[in-house]
This record gives sequence, structure tokens and C-alpha cells, in this order.
Amino acid sequence: MKAVEIMYKFTDYYRNEVTLSFDDHPFSQFPKHVWVICRYKNKWLLTKHKERGLEFPGGKVEENESAIDAAVREVKEETGGIVATIRYIGQYTVAGKGGTIVKNVYFAHVKKIGGQKTYYETDGPVLLNHIPRDVKRNRKYSFIMKDDVLTLCLTHIAD
Ligand code: GTP
Repeated sequence: MKAVEIMYKFTDYYRNEVTLSFDDHPFSQFPKHVWVICRYKNKWLLTKHKERGLEFPGGKVEENESAIDAAVREVKEETGGIVATIRYIGQYTVAGKGGTIVKNVYFAHVKKIGGQKTYYETDGPVLLNHIPRDVKRNRKYSFIMKDDVLTLCLTHIAD
């Protein structure tokens, strides 16, 4: 028998409706977006997006690319991090003006941070001992870090 599926519903920083689940790909087998919660040497590994601010790395899945390959690639491009282990955590949708996106969340351990010639739309890696308690109000942080996806995923990882 299948376990009862739990869907978390809340609104994001821009008041778009978000639905998050820790089930196995509940919304799409082929999501077009990925987000990767990263650890490196007992620290959180984030990137500094030039416009949005500090956030965990992520982005769009390219054509003929799997979501997990996109996740590994985005970590490298935005932080220089080489992924050692990665696992699927959950999936969420964001319903915005331009339509609904589906994003996979992964938890990854990085074994090495190498220098990159370019970090694309970001200024590269940022290591943190702790994610600040005021992340939802802190202007240094990206809107992507400001809804319950982050808190629920961190709790899920810790469990
Ligand atoms: P381009 O096609 O590159 O221009 O993409 P975009 O800037 O329109 O954004 P994208 O397709 O990545 O996402 C569309 C919208 O979904 C964004 O404007 C956000 O409002 C929202 N969105 C994307 N990712 C996230 C996320 O991780 N969390 C939340 N809350 N919203 C997101």
C-alpha cells in the first residue's frame, strides 16, 4: 500500500503559489528546473547570484539532459563544486503569471571546489556555517531562499 502523500502549499516571496512534496516525482518525471542544497566540508555551499543574491545553486535542465545531470552541472557552473554524492529530495511547483514551473530539489555533497573561468550569472561560491535565522527578511539572500521550500527541505534532510 502506498503511504499517504503529503503536499505542502504556501506562497512565495512574490505571492506565487508553491506546492512541495517529498514523494518520488509527484508532478513531473521530466522537470525543467533543478535546485541543489549543497554541503562542502561541513558548511553550506551557496552561490551569489548577481541580481538575486545568495542562494543554493540551480537552474534549467537543458535539452537531452537529465535533471540529475543538470543539477551536477549547475553546481559546477555556479560554485566550481565537484559533486561527490547527490540524492533526490523532493519536487515543487511554482504557479506564476507566466505559467507553472516544476523543480526538483537535490541534496549534494561536494568533494572539491575548483576555480572556474566564469560562474555564469553568479559571482561564484559562498560558504556558510549557518543559514541565518532572518533569511526571509535578509536582503543579501535571493527570493528563492525566502519561502518554506528551504525550511521544509532542511528539516527533511536533518530527519
Ligand atoms: P528565463 O526563461 O531564463 O527568462 O527565465 P525566467 O527568469 O522567466 O524564470 P524561470 O523560467 O526560471 O522561472 C519563471 C518564474 O518562476 C520566475 O520568475 C519565478 O517567479 C518563479 N521561480 C523559478 N524558480 C523558482 C523557485 O525556486 N522558487 C520560487 N518561489 N519561484 C521560482
